[in-house]
Amino acid sequence: HSEEEQIEDYLFKIVLIGDSAVGKSTLLARFARDEFYPNSKSTIGVEFQSQKMEINGKEVKAQIWDTAGQERFRGVTSAYYRGAVGALLVYDVSRRQTFDSIGRWLNELQTHSDMNVVTILVGNKFDLKDSREVTTTEGKDLAEAQGPFFIETSALDLSNVSVAFQTVVGEIY
Ligand code: GTP
Ligand code: MG
Repeated sequence: HSEEEQIEDYLFKIVLIGDSAVGKSTLLARFARDEFYPNSKSTIGVEFQSQKMEINGKEVKAQIWDTAGQERFRGVTSAYYRGAVGALLVYDVSRRQTFDSIGRWLNELQTHSDMNVVTILVGNKFDLKDSREVTTTEGKDLAEAQGPFFIETSALDLSNVSVAFQTVVGEIY
């Protein structure tokens, strides 16, 4: 192995997908920079952040890609998914419609990426307890039916944010 190949062995491309405003960019900002923007704007095109992580005592680098949930703001779909080994499928627990879209996102992921991409279903905005529209059980049941792991997160109060990313990368590695 050349040095370059070795670096590539430990560079994992992870994609964030889900409807607009579920909190994809906020989760990424929290995870990669520990920042929270209460007025986060819709993503236009594609952005990514690299983050070093420690998995089983080894340093790995996750390259996390983020795009717009809204069709008209998205770039080239196939390029977005190309080479991805992990995916976070995000919905908002306070908006059922975003949960109903998960099947569509999963289809798109399966169409454009490798069969063995590790996925985790992420119910974000866990902190919005009074306006919850999707129960934890519903999330778990969907995850079991579709295969992916499941977690509920809050990018606002930081619960489970790094666990969500760690779960995906740990499973790939
Ligand atoms: P697109 O880029 O349009 O696809 O949206 P997105 O999924 O990237 O959503 P974004 O991260 O921009 O977040 C949308 C809004 O939700 C912002 O106002 C965030 O501050 C808010 N938000 C994100 N995560 C949380 C959370 O865990 N709890 C609460 N209460 N608000 C959140
Ligand atoms: Mg965004």
